[in-house]
Amino acid sequence: MNRAKIILTAWLLALAQPASAQDPFKPEQVKSGSETYARHCAPCHGPRMADPEGAPDLRKFPRDQRERFLTSVSKGKNSMPPWGDLLKADEIEALWAYVATGGRN
Ligand code: HEC
Repeated sequence: MNRAKIILTAWLLALAQPASAQDPFKPEQVKSGSETYARHCAPCHGPRMADPEGAPDLRKFPRDQRERFLTSVSKGKNSMPPWGDLLKADEIEALWAYVATGGRN
């Protein structure tokens, strides 16, 4: 292979990687999660997850522990109230999208 062909092949391989491989969340989902977060979670966990008031910093929540997130949020944990009766499953899922993407949107 000549140099140009190698570069072209590498470029095509890079293009073949779907963007969603890095970030499986839809922007609408992250946005709706951020709205729910601002309404219900920000008072304790801090606006946009910064400066939490006596609650853990959700930017440090392990990204590979979705099940734990869903369970803690729906059922509550110690002094954190349960949200399962107030929020629908897809709203909690959207919150996860927001937290797991680090509140970028
Ligand atoms: C009344 C204050 C308060 C509100 C409002 C609140 N939290 Fe919490 N949250 C806490 C406290 C306190 C903890 C620490 C619980 C512990 O580990 O003892 C916590 C812990 C957590 C954890 C970590 C649970 C774990 O498994 O370690 C997550 C995730 C979380 N909150 C998400 C949320 C989300 C999402 C919302 C909004 C729907 C929310 N919280 C609203 C106070 C709050």
